[in-house]
Amino acid sequence: MSAEQERRKQQAAVLAVKQIEESMIVGLGTGSTADLVTKRLAEQVAEGFDVIGVPTSRKTAELAGSLGIPLRDLQDVEHIDLTIDGADEIQPGTLFALKGAGGALLREKLVALDSSKVILVVDDTKIVDLIGNNFAVPVEVVQFGWRVPARGLEALGATIEMRLDPATGQPFVTDNDNYVLDAAFGPIGDPNQLSRRVKEITGVIEHGLFVGVVDEVIVAGSDGTTTLTPDVS
Ligand code: A5P
Repeated sequence: MSAEQERRKQQAAVLAVKQIEESMIVGLGTGSTADLVTKRLAEQVAEGFDVIGVPTSRKTAELAGSLGIPLRDLQDVEHIDLTIDGADEIQPGTLFALKGAGGALLREKLVALDSSKVILVVDDTKIVDLIGNNFAVPVEVVQFGWRVPARGLEALGATIEMRLDPATGQPFVTDNDNYVLDAAFGPIGDPNQLSRRVKEITGVIEHGLFVGVVDEVIVAGSDGTTTLTPDVS
């Protein structure tokens, strides 16, 4: 990523953090863009800003904790006021999102679903006509008998790749001790329907299709930042 792209993402992250109010409980996303949000929030915390963060991954918990943001687990809070996260693909209009390239999709979705408001921060390379365009759908599955849900995904038309840990070449294991299957469907015409069908497969824990979850997307582009909200139909 160029220094210019990084600067734009930083700008978008700052804009998102402006929506965090004193005493809020805030979901902290996972990935390089979400890390910028966490770092910006940590600067405010260092100046006395009162907030509690709920991390969406162990990696984010480590970063946020090391920067002094007070943290709680999702099960230890009543409700999250605002979550700010990144994404891998966004479909404007519907704000359908594809997430999970970082492998944190289950915790990201749980945190998002418990939030009054969900903001995603992305650069403009993440904007697509249809989600599934550039990325496979990450599907978190049980380790035991993982070939069974893999065959179920193939039956829905996907080409499957087991996610590997680049450091070891062994299957990537999520924070929840599961595997991730990257299911390439190509551009997805009906993410709602696909979402339901994938969830019906025995052995599937969760998938990276975020349908009807996102309230706002802040896009960092060459002309500055743009805010997208869902079209009301
Ligand atoms: C993590 O599991 C993903 O959902 C991330 O939100 C996504 O991969 C975005 O990462 P970047 O901000 O690094 O592109």
